Amino acid sequence: MTTAAAWVVVVAMLHVSAAWVGAAGQALVPGVMIFGDSVVDAGNNNRLPTLVRADFPPYGRDFPSTHGAPTGRFCNGKLATDYTVDNLGLSTYPPAYLGQEAQSDNHSLLHGANFASGASGYLDATAALYSAIPLSRQLDYFREFKTKVGSVAGGKKAAALTSESIYVVSAGTSDYVQNYYVNPMLAAAYTPEQFADVLMQPFTTFIQGLYGLGARRIGVTSLPPMGCLPASVTLFGGGSNGGCVERLNNDSRIFNTKLEAASDAIRKQHSDLKLVVFDIYNPLFDLSRRACCGTGTIETSVLCNQGAVGTCANATGYVFWDGFHPTDAANKVLADALLLQGLQLIS
Ligand SMILES: *[C@@H]1O[C@H](CO)[C@@H](O)[C@H](O)[C@H]1NC(C)=O
Ligand SMILES: *[C@@H]1O[C@H](CO)[C@@H](O)[C@H](O)[C@H]1NC(C)=O
Ligand SMILES: *[C@@H]1O[C@H](CO)[C@@H](O)[C@H](O)[C@H]1NC(C)=O
Repeated sequence: MTTAAAWVVVVAMLHVSAAWVGAAGQALVPGVMIFGDSVVDAGNNNRLPTLVRADFPPYGRDFPSTHGAPTGRFCNGKLATDYTVDNLGLSTYPPAYLGQEAQSDNHSLLHGANFASGASGYLDATAALYSAIPLSRQLDYFREFKTKVGSVAGGKKAAALTSESIYVVSAGTSDYVQNYYVNPMLAAAYTPEQFADVLMQPFTTFIQGLYGLGARRIGVTSLPPMGCLPASVTLFGGGSNGGCVERLNNDSRIFNTKLEAASDAIRKQHSDLKLVVFDIYNPLFDLSRRACCGTGTIETSVLCNQGAVGTCANATGYVFWDGFHPTDAANKVLADALLLQGLQLIS
């Protein structure tokens, strides 16, 4: 099948899905469970003694359901996972597990929960540096979550929620940007490639842990182009590669190749597990490099709609909200890319 033909099929399938959501008024999956770092944290860090938090203005400035009040999301508006939840037809965002709503009412957990914590990584040591919630403890919270859901919905419903929900895992960036690149001891002990190998062990352990607790539909995000993050450009200097730090982008690509291989190995062990690696590297790289106005492609229509003539060389300003995190507009583009990549998770 040609790329164009494949595209037509995919778009047709999406329309069928969308129509089905509308007609039945029902979501494509019963819930969404979210694990990882600040790219997907929806407020857990508000409850921690950490400096890595986003519970003050202007964070949340454009978040619709709180009318611009900060929620703890590291963004001006919605995260890619929020748009994904919208795309799946769910009517509420999974609450931050440590937040007040989730802690005071077990019914708020019936469509999933968000266990993510800014500055967490595949290494528990990365989270420890910033008093964030390590992935191992996020898994413990998920175990506790299952008990709570069972208590309000019954074991059968809790089991269905567990096996049919989509699990999103976003981690790894903090292990590099907030640990490896700033920790001379780690940098002396491992080359970037060896460090990627080191991270594959906790990655595999975490996915196996989710599987052991009943997860069957898991999407893991790749690393973004770390060299294009504004913080990296400031710290390490942009150079000639479109304003991005080439060395760090190379590290992202090495990690992503290993992540694919490690995911393959896990899939071979569990024929009933759907495990997708979401490529966020290429969508974000394209956005930060060639978000020129007037070419009619999807990213430009979203990002260049404010009379921004001549911003081609400067689109980064629209892609990243702060040093590390995409804007609401970029997250919408990302979520649409993830929906296409994740079709097998909802089939
Ligand atoms: C939530 O569920 C847990 C576990 O079953 C239970 O101990 C707790 O009392 C429940 N909390 C509320 C507020 O219902
Ligand atoms: C990045 O990778 C490319 C292709 O593998 C290589 O040619 C280039 O030298 C690398 N750049 C750096 C700074 O490591
Ligand atoms: C982008 O534009 C802003 C102001 O519009 C300017 O301050 C900044 O230097 C520009 N950046 C680049 C890379 O041209």
